[in-house]
Amino acid sequence: MHKVIFDTDPGIDDAMALLFLHRHPAIDLIGITTVFGNASVETTTRNALFLKQRWGIDAPVAKGLDKTFNPDRPHVGWPTFIHGDDGLGNIDVPETVDLPIDPRPAHRFIIDTVRAHPGQVTLIAVGRMTNLALALREDPDFAALVREVVIMGGAFDVNGNITPAAEANIHGDPEAADVVMTAPWPVTVVGLDVTTKTVMTKAMIADIAEQGGEAGKLLADISQFYVAFYEQHVPDGMVVHDSCACAYVVAPELFTVRSGSIRVVCGGIADGQTIQRPDNKLFPPSPWDDLPSQKACIDIDAVRTLKLISDTLVLNG
Ligand code: BDR
Ligand code: CA
Repeated sequence: MHKVIFDTDPGIDDAMALLFLHRHPAIDLIGITTVFGNASVETTTRNALFLKQRWGIDAPVAKGLDKTFNPDRPHVGWPTFIHGDDGLGNIDVPETVDLPIDPRPAHRFIIDTVRAHPGQVTLIAVGRMTNLALALREDPDFAALVREVVIMGGAFDVNGNITPAAEANIHGDPEAADVVMTAPWPVTVVGLDVTTKTVMTKAMIADIAEQGGEAGKLLADISQFYVAFYEQHVPDGMVVHDSCACAYVVAPELFTVRSGSIRVVCGGIADGQTIQRPDNKLFPPSPWDDLPSQKACIDIDAVRTLKLISDTLVLNG
C-alpha cells in the first residue's frame, strides 16, 4: 500500500489524477495539498474541496501559500483557456464548498504528515513545486523521511509546452523546482517526454462517464473543456499529464527511466528548463556535480498506462 500526499492545482487533468488515487486499491490517500498554477490557490483549493465532497474522499485538504518560492517573480496570468475560468472546465462549481480545511499551510501539513509516518509517505506533486520547496526550506531533515517523490513536470528530450524550453509546472516556479530536484530524496520526474504520448481518446472518456458512476460522469463533464483545448495539439482526446505521475507510483514498470542529477534553469530565455546530466556520461566539472541522482522518465508504454488509468477510474463505479 502506498501512503500518498497529493500536491495539486485542480485543474482538469489534476481532477482525473485525484479520482485515480481515490479509486486505486494500492493507494492510501492521506492528504491533498493545494498550490496555485492552473488557477489561483483560492480557486484550486475550492476545487479540491468540491471534488472531495462530490467523490466522498476522506483525506484532509491543506491550502498552499499564494506566492512563488522567490516572491519577487512576476505573476503570469492563469491558463483559463486550458482549464476554464473556474479551473474545472467551466462546469457549475459552487462559489464556496462547506467543508473544513486543515488549519496548517500545505507545506507544514506535508512535513507533519511525513514525520508521523517516517519512511512511508510518497509525495505526488502535479502543480508548481512551491509547497515541496517550502517544506524543504522549513525542515531540511524531513527529506530523508520521505519514501519517494514523483513529479509531473519538466521536459528533457522534447520541447516544453509553455515555452520551447519549459513545461508549465516547472516554469511557474523554477527556483522551487531546482530545490526539489537537488534535495537528498529520491525524485522521479514524469514530464512531457512521456505524458504527451499518453492521450486519452474521446471514446475512452465516454466509457468512463458510462461505467464510472456519478464520479465518472462528473469527470467526463469537467474534461470536455480540456478536450476542446487539445484539439489544436492531438487528433482525438486529451493528454493525461497528472494521471501519468500517479500511474508511475503503482506501475513503474510501464516507464523507462534515465538516472542522473537534474537542474532547473532559473532566468533567461530558457527559464524553467529541466536538464539532466545522465550518470553514464562524462563531463568537465559543472553545476550538476555532487548532487543526488534522480530519475527522468524518457519513455512509456502509453497503451498499458491508459488502460490502467481507465480501468482504475471506473472501479466501484
Ligand atoms: C501540467 O500543467 C498543468 O496545466 C497540468 O495540470 C499539468 O500538471 C502540464 O504541463
Ligand atoms: Ca496539474
